[in-house]
Amino acid sequence: MQAFLKGAQSSRAQQKQERIGSAGPAGHPSADKKHKALPWVEKYRPKCVDEVAFQEEVVAVLKKSLEGADLPNLLFYGPPGTGKTSTILAAARELYGPELYRQRVLELNASDERGIQVIREKVKNFAQLTAAGTRTDGKPCPPFKIIILDEADSMTNAAQAALRRTMEKESRTTRFCLICNYVSRIIEPLTSRCSKFRFKPLGDQVQEERLLEICEKENLKYTKEGIGALVRVSEGDLRKAITFLQSAARLNGDKEITESDVTEIAGVVPSKMIQNLLSICYKSTFDKLEIAIKNIIDEGYAAMQIIHQLHDTIIDESLNDQQKSVITEKMAEVDKCLTDGAEEYLQLLSLCSVIMQQAQTSQSN
Ligand SMILES: Nc1ncnc2c1ncn2[C@@H]1O[C@H](COP(=O)(O)OP(=O)(O)OP(=O)(O)O)[C@@H](O)[C@H]1O
Ligand SMILES: [Mg+2]
Repeated sequence: MQAFLKGAQSSRAQQKQERIGSAGPAGHPSADKKHKALPWVEKYRPKCVDEVAFQEEVVAVLKKSLEGADLPNLLFYGPPGTGKTSTILAAARELYGPELYRQRVLELNASDERGIQVIREKVKNFAQLTAAGTRTDGKPCPPFKIIILDEADSMTNAAQAALRRTMEKESRTTRFCLICNYVSRIIEPLTSRCSKFRFKPLGDQVQEERLLEICEKENLKYTKEGIGALVRVSEGDLRKAITFLQSAARLNGDKEITESDVTEIAGVVPSKMIQNLLSICYKSTFDKLEIAIKNIIDEGYAAMQIIHQLHDTIIDESLNDQQKSVITEKMAEVDKCLTDGAEEYLQLLSLCSVIMQQAQTSQSN
């Protein structure tokens, strides 16, 4: 009977292990099938802290903390797709192993209810539970639990304030890890209770290496320019790069991934179109400008993308600093309006008319 129970337990443990993402036995048919269905960002999510690329300082500090099992409260911040969530999940997995993970780690993100009530009840109750210093397999593990509050910048200030005292009172049994994109949206008393780590946008070289690694594992054919374009359009966001790579691979079947595939998938506006728009601003009339903008919008390009590209191009144009500053200030304004849901055509028109006005002041001087 005991042997039977033991067997059942270990198979349940195995299921759990697969669920939290550790690879199943190599060559196991069901594991293969499961992997195929996974999006590549999940499939290639770092499984241990060592696999996290480019964030050397964070990894060094975390590894030291993992050795001594003395983790401070953490605050990770930085742009999307730079490894924040992956790092803490990998660290927690290394600390507790697959079995204890469920009991010891509470993960709450923006999709969960995280109002003040939840902080008062769920988080506080979880934090109050005591934790033993050994795993079920007898290995030592830290005598505390981890509460991961992902996307913490979307928590209300009241909910953040409710965390202050909990964080201090339960420091014997619980560590908090707050993760966010905008550190300025976390209230000061919380930031001062945590060790802060900034996650940098990933460097081109590192992104390229990762992408090539995935290409090799997935048996993809690619051109050097194709990979270069992926790195360029993703701007330091590895998640974006990997997602585009997967789309390009699906689009292409067995053919190689080229630069034009990538620009197509990423919705990048062809540079000829941007140049054409600028030359109308410089030399032509408002009526022509209206038509050109309407055409671009009708082609289905996103205004936000056009503004980003216009920004990169304007920087290198032969306008003087004052003109560039007026234009870029207008860009910031338009960007905000678009984020608030303004009409794309009107916003672009208003931006381009400022460019036109500035270009014409330089001609009249
Ligand atoms: N530093 C990194 N090293 C290795 N892989 C990374 C790194 N950063 C991102 N990735 C890849 O990108 C995916 C997304 O990363 P992750 O979820 O950790 O981003 P994030 O920083 O939490 O972003 P967000 O702010 O949008 O939540 C991972 O599954 C992984 O494949
Ligand atoms: Mg995240």
